[in-house]
Amino acid sequence: MFRSVVIAAATTATLTLPAVAQDVEAGAELFQKQCGTCHVVMNEDGEILAGRKARTGPNLFGIVDAPAAQVDGFRYGSGLLAAADAGLVWEVPHLVAYLQDTNIFLREVTGDPKVRSRMAWKVRKDKDAADIAAFLATLK
Ligand code: HEC
Repeated sequence: MFRSVVIAAATTATLTLPAVAQDVEAGAELFQKQCGTCHVVMNEDGEILAGRKARTGPNLFGIVDAPAAQVDGFRYGSGLLAAADAGLVWEVPHLVAYLQDTNIFLREVTGDPKVRSRMAWKVRKDKDAADIAAFLATLK
């Protein structure tokens, strides 16, 4: 179940990606504007690599290719925890889909139409989501 849904989600995300190279610099700027109000990217030495000191969302250092909902001490919502239990790993296509509609993404991954995300933000454009994911992939 999980596997087929994730593959379907990944395929959709890949198919809808524009045929433009992902732009890490644009992603950095978008991150600062759209994500930095809630998320920081801070490495193990406590250095802030992006964002300010926001704590509304979890630290996103090393998030690309990491299993979901692993930041110690962060109180995740039940939907994201269920997705993590189902084995969600943040590969780039998953992130691109999640960023555009966190509720729909979690519902697809968990197979539960009632789960809700605690992250109240949507990236409007596919290309922007892909750029942000490309930027995050550099921070690990
Ligand atoms: C309004 C605050 C807010 C904004 C803006 C926001 N987020 Fe979040 N984000 C959250 C919260 C809260 C969670 C925890 C969600 C949950 O538990 O359901 C989260 C979770 C996440 C996760 C899952 C992390 C994990 O540990 O599994 C990722 C990835 C993420 N956000 C990326 C982003 C990116 C990239 C942006 C910018 C496009 C962004 N977020 C914008 C609040 C925000």
